[in-house]
Amino acid sequence: MSDLTVVAGPSSPELAGMVAAHLDAALVQAELRVFSDGESKIRLAGPVGERCIIVQSTHPPTDSHLMQAMMIARKCADAGSKVCAVIPYLAYARQDKAFLEGEVVSIALVAKLLEAAGVSSVVTVDMHSQAGLAHFARIKNISSIPLLAQHAAGMGLARPIAVSPDAGGAARVEEFARLLNTDFVALKKTRDRTTGEVTVDPEIGADVSGRDAILVDDMISSGGSIVKAAGVLKKGGAARVYAMCAHALLIGDAASKIQAAGVQEIVATNSIPGKYARVDLSKALAEAAISLF
Ligand code: R5P
Repeated sequence: MSDLTVVAGPSSPELAGMVAAHLDAALVQAELRVFSDGESKIRLAGPVGERCIIVQSTHPPTDSHLMQAMMIARKCADAGSKVCAVIPYLAYARQDKAFLEGEVVSIALVAKLLEAAGVSSVVTVDMHSQAGLAHFARIKNISSIPLLAQHAAGMGLARPIAVSPDAGGAARVEEFARLLNTDFVALKKTRDRTTGEVTVDPEIGADVSGRDAILVDDMISSGGSIVKAAGVLKKGGAARVYAMCAHALLIGDAASKIQAAGVQEIVATNSIPGKYARVDLSKALAEAAISLF
């Protein structure tokens, strides 16, 4: 068999198949059984080669998906493979510092756990912060921005303006705007660290009236940030509001809340499978993974 194997984790079977096809690699399924107490049991459906690329995003059920990634890595490493973990949505990336006294820097722990499980390199997408990346010995952080901007260019937007819901996303939205050949603005968002409640300053800092506004974020989780930002843009007279992101977690009724806030369309990458996964990352992931061996 080929020395290169792609293992399809239970959270990302389709994406794994596409990555394997780009690399002309053997594809092995990681079969999953979940016991009544919630424990995962993994069985690889075939042998693995000397180089192994595991594809497993860690969207909800987050801890189970993370544990499954580690179980697959352990099995491949024990079989003598060098392991690259492709984790397009890497959970815990937002826990990159102790915001309140006593909090755990969980992304540092995740990095150590993956390493202990036998992972020698990681590929991820739009990781939340540089601070988080610093905890990984060997990691490639792919930007989804070029692919999102390419998609946006075909959306028939009228006088578009790119908008970040917060200052933290300013560099991201600047790059998006540059590629779309338009201008951008970053809103001022604050989050109550105890309740999680989000507030967006109504002062936009740009004239959006009559323009199509594209909100660009790394992830949409509860939808709170996009809902508040869309409200501000609508009040500011924006024509149509769109939401684009790398990771559409869209927990609970987030998608309907976003639509109710006047957002025309949600566009995300296929880092997380689902109906909003419209932008394909597989080629970029395959190229990044193979370059890490
Ligand atoms: C925060 O800084 C991130 O960039 C996202 O804006 C945030 O995580 C989105 O979460 P939610 O949808 O729950 O507001």
